[in-house]
Amino acid sequence: MTVPPPLALLAEVTHRCPMRCVYCSNPLALEPASRELPTAVWNRVLNEAADYGVLQVHFSGGEPTARPDLPDMVAHATRCGLYTNLITSGVLLDKTQLPALADAGLEHVQISIQDVDPTSAERIGGLTGAHERKLTAARWVTELGLALTINAVIHRGNVERVGDMIELAAALGAGRVEIAHVQYYGWALANRAALLPSRQQLDLATKTVEEARTALRGRVMIDYVIPDYHARLPKACMGGWGQRFVNIEPMGRVLPCHAATTIPGMRFETVLDGSLAQIWEHSAAFNQFRGTEWMPEPCASCNRREIDWGGCRCQALALTGDAAATDPVCHKSPYHATVKTLAGAETSSEQGALFYRGDRRVQQTAMGYLGPMAGAAEHG
Ligand code: SF4
Ligand code: FES
Repeated sequence: MTVPPPLALLAEVTHRCPMRCVYCSNPLALEPASRELPTAVWNRVLNEAADYGVLQVHFSGGEPTARPDLPDMVAHATRCGLYTNLITSGVLLDKTQLPALADAGLEHVQISIQDVDPTSAERIGGLTGAHERKLTAARWVTELGLALTINAVIHRGNVERVGDMIELAAALGAGRVEIAHVQYYGWALANRAALLPSRQQLDLATKTVEEARTALRGRVMIDYVIPDYHARLPKACMGGWGQRFVNIEPMGRVLPCHAATTIPGMRFETVLDGSLAQIWEHSAAFNQFRGTEWMPEPCASCNRREIDWGGCRCQALALTGDAAATDPVCHKSPYHATVKTLAGAETSSEQGALFYRGDRRVQQTAMGYLGPMAGAAEHG
């Protein structure tokens, strides 16, 4: 099979981050700064990516601005001809760092917000004072003439303020807003019972987004990602495994998605083992779920198999214990009814205790996923 190069590289340059978002997608065991790839290796990878045909690099983390050499890497990516995007919480940005990044050629900044209400936002993000710092950083972005996307992460505690978050993003000068319901991997899975909105809340939020799209047409583009558990069809996770996106972790492991390391038995090469192109095309991990040949029924004979590529492998693992199963979000999966029952049960309770990074009541399950230890929630 001919394998086209990825469209975009997600460069997770560090796991360091002052925030402790309760839906963080980073793994339980974070890489320490001492194991992060040095600038020269990242720059070599950026060269390889551009030569291979990658078009965009998204500098991410953790919090990528925790790395003082970020402007050097952005400048290098710019020289390579890559479109550069910074995915940041904004809380570490200061008035000197952002112009340095703009001078280095940075084209786009994505800042996440947790709510319009600072108390609620900071409860979810786990950092006092973060909300105002994010708003200030967003204003600096537009003052510098950089393109701004506001990423608003939606859950049961803020779903009723979706419209206010869109208004805030528009007032900040964002050209794009991503209204992204939490996806239940990483810490979000441990916190699912407290975060998953009800079907009614989701429907109301969807109506609000549709109205805002009409009102802001031509001014602000609104992307909308709904929570899988209330869907009937799965999303094409990562645009299909090993097809459009490649993730590189702080110490250099090359992954098809941020949660792929939770899949038991998979071995991932690092950028020190070979070139990006070699790993992308020949790694057993990338080839395991690429295309359609690996698919079981009902995907194998389904007319959507090249639209959603069977959904999300990491979600299939989390919900069925088998990464090769049809994503149970799909109505054709034998597990679909179980997901619906689970969603109904979890969303009928009050918003409960939240688990933060470092909480000893959360353990990594045998499958690599995070989950509360038995009885932990009652003691929260
Ligand atoms: Fe997608 Fe498989 Fe469901 Fe078809 S059966 S819609 S390919 S997940
Ligand atoms: Fe891994 Fe969807 S997050 S395939």
